Amino acid sequence: MIRQPNRRHFLASGLAAAAVWPMLGSVRAAQFETDPFALGVASGCPTPSGVVLWTRLIFADAAPSPADAFSFAPAPQFPPIDVAWEIAADEGFARVRQSGIVTADERLAHSVHVQVEGLEPDRWYFYRFRAGDALSPVGRTRTAPAAGAENGRFSFAFAACQQYEQGWYSAYRDMAGRDLDLVVHLGDYIYEKSYGAGHVREHGTGAPSLLFEYRDRHALYKSDPDLMAAHAAFPWLVTWDDHEVVDNYGQDASPTDRRPEAFLRRRAAAYQAWYEHMPVPPLAAPSFEALRIYGHHRFGSLLDVTLLDTRQYRDPAPEAPQPAEMSRYTMLGAEQEAWFDRTMQESKAKWSIIGQPTLLSSRDLELGPGTRYSDDGWDHFRSARGRLLNSLRSADRANPVVIGGDLHCFYAADVKAEDQTLVASEFVTGSITSNAPSASAFETVMAENPHLRFGEARKHGYCLMHVAPDQARVELVAVSDRKDPAASAAKFQEFVVLDGMPGVNRV
Ligand SMILES: [Fe+2]
Repeated sequence: MIRQPNRRHFLASGLAAAAVWPMLGSVRAAQFETDPFALGVASGCPTPSGVVLWTRLIFADAAPSPADAFSFAPAPQFPPIDVAWEIAADEGFARVRQSGIVTADERLAHSVHVQVEGLEPDRWYFYRFRAGDALSPVGRTRTAPAAGAENGRFSFAFAACQQYEQGWYSAYRDMAGRDLDLVVHLGDYIYEKSYGAGHVREHGTGAPSLLFEYRDRHALYKSDPDLMAAHAAFPWLVTWDDHEVVDNYGQDASPTDRRPEAFLRRRAAAYQAWYEHMPVPPLAAPSFEALRIYGHHRFGSLLDVTLLDTRQYRDPAPEAPQPAEMSRYTMLGAEQEAWFDRTMQESKAKWSIIGQPTLLSSRDLELGPGTRYSDDGWDHFRSARGRLLNSLRSADRANPVVIGGDLHCFYAADVKAEDQTLVASEFVTGSITSNAPSASAFETVMAENPHLRFGEARKHGYCLMHVAPDQARVELVAVSDRKDPAASAAKFQEFVVLDGMPGVNRV
C-alpha cells in the first residue's frame, strides 16, 4: 500500500529532488513501502529521432518473486501517481536531453509509456523514472540510424518462448552482457498454463482469464532479474504468439473456449495486460478489443525489421479443411497482407528481416511417404504462405531473412516457394526455457524436410544476427543448463547468408 505523504518527507525529498529534477515541483509526493519500480524499466520501437520508454509502478506488500506478491484480486484503489522521466546522453545524467511528467493510473495498471522525440539518430541514451521518493533503475537504449544512413553493421538478438516454470532466464543474463543494438521478441513472452514437469519455480496461480490475472502473470515474469536486465540494456521490438492469450487461439476462437463472445472478452484482457507490460507506443484512445502490433522498423540503409501478427486476424482453422477452402485462409488478415505487400514494395533496405512467431517453411511431421502438418502453423495456411512469398518475390527484395520461434527447436532453413525456387533464408530460435519436443519427433522432422538444413532440439537459448552489407551472420547461443540459475551460455553453431544469395550457409 502507498502510505499517505508525510509532510516532512515531502519537504526534504522535494527540495533534494528539485536540484536534480527541475520539473519535479509538480510531482505529487508519495512514499512507498516497497520499491514501485520492482518490475524494472524497458524501452522499445526505436526510430532515428525517438524511442518508447516503459515502466509500471507496482505496489506490493512483499518483494517481487513469490507468485502471490502481485495479486490484484481485491482490486485495491490506488490513486493516480505522477511519474517524472528523463533521458540523457550520459549515464550520470549530466546531459539530460528530454524530460517530462506523465500520470500513471489504475486504468492501465499504473503502466507508463512515453514516446520520446527529438533525439539524435544512432546514439546510446540513458533513462530513468521517479515517482515520489522512489527512483527507478537506469535503462540504456539506442536510437535507430537515420533514414538512408550508410550504416555498415547492426547486431540484434532474437528470442521466444520463456515458460517461467520450466527454467531460469540465464539466456537473458548472457544477452544483457552483449554488445547489441536491439532485441526482437517473437512471442510466448508469458505462458497461460503450467506445462510440463520438473519445474524450477511455479506460477502459483491457474490460467488467467480476467484482466487482473493476466496482469499478475506478466508482473511475475517481469519480476525476473535476468529478463529485467535484458530489457534495461537494449531497446526491444515485440510481437506475440498464442500463449500471451491461450494456446492455439486464432482470431475469435480458442480450442478451450468455443464461445466467441466470452473468448473475445478474455482476449481483450490479455491484450490489455500485454500492452501494459510492453515497451510499445502509448495509445491515444486505448481499446483492447483489437490492438495493432504489426509494424515496420527501419535501421538506416542496412536493414529493416517487419514484425507480423499471425494471431489476431488469422482464420480459425477448421479441423479437416477442404483444399478448396484452404486457398482462401488467411494468417495475417486481408488488411495486414495488403500492408505487407506495400511495405515490401516501398522498402529499400539492403536486408529485410521478417519477424513472425513460428517457422514459415513447411515441416512434414510424418515419417515415410505420407505427410502430416501442424494445424497451428503456416503449413495449415499454405496459400497464405504462398501469397507472402509472392509478395517478397514481386518486391524483388534483395535479402529477405525470416526469423521465428514457437517450436522450441533451433532451425536454419532455405525457404522455398511451391515451385521450389529459393526465396529467402530462415532462422528459428530455440526456446529461452520452454520444453522441447521429443527426440523421435524431432528426428522425423529432420529426416523428412531437407530444406531444414539444420536443427537442434536439445538446447535452449537465443540467436544473434550480425548484419553487414555483404553478409548476415547468425549465431545460435545455448545455455549450459536451463534448470541451473547460474548457467553459462555459449555459441554452438553459426551461419552466414550472403548478399544476393538466399539460403543458409553453415560456418
Ligand atoms: Fe512456445
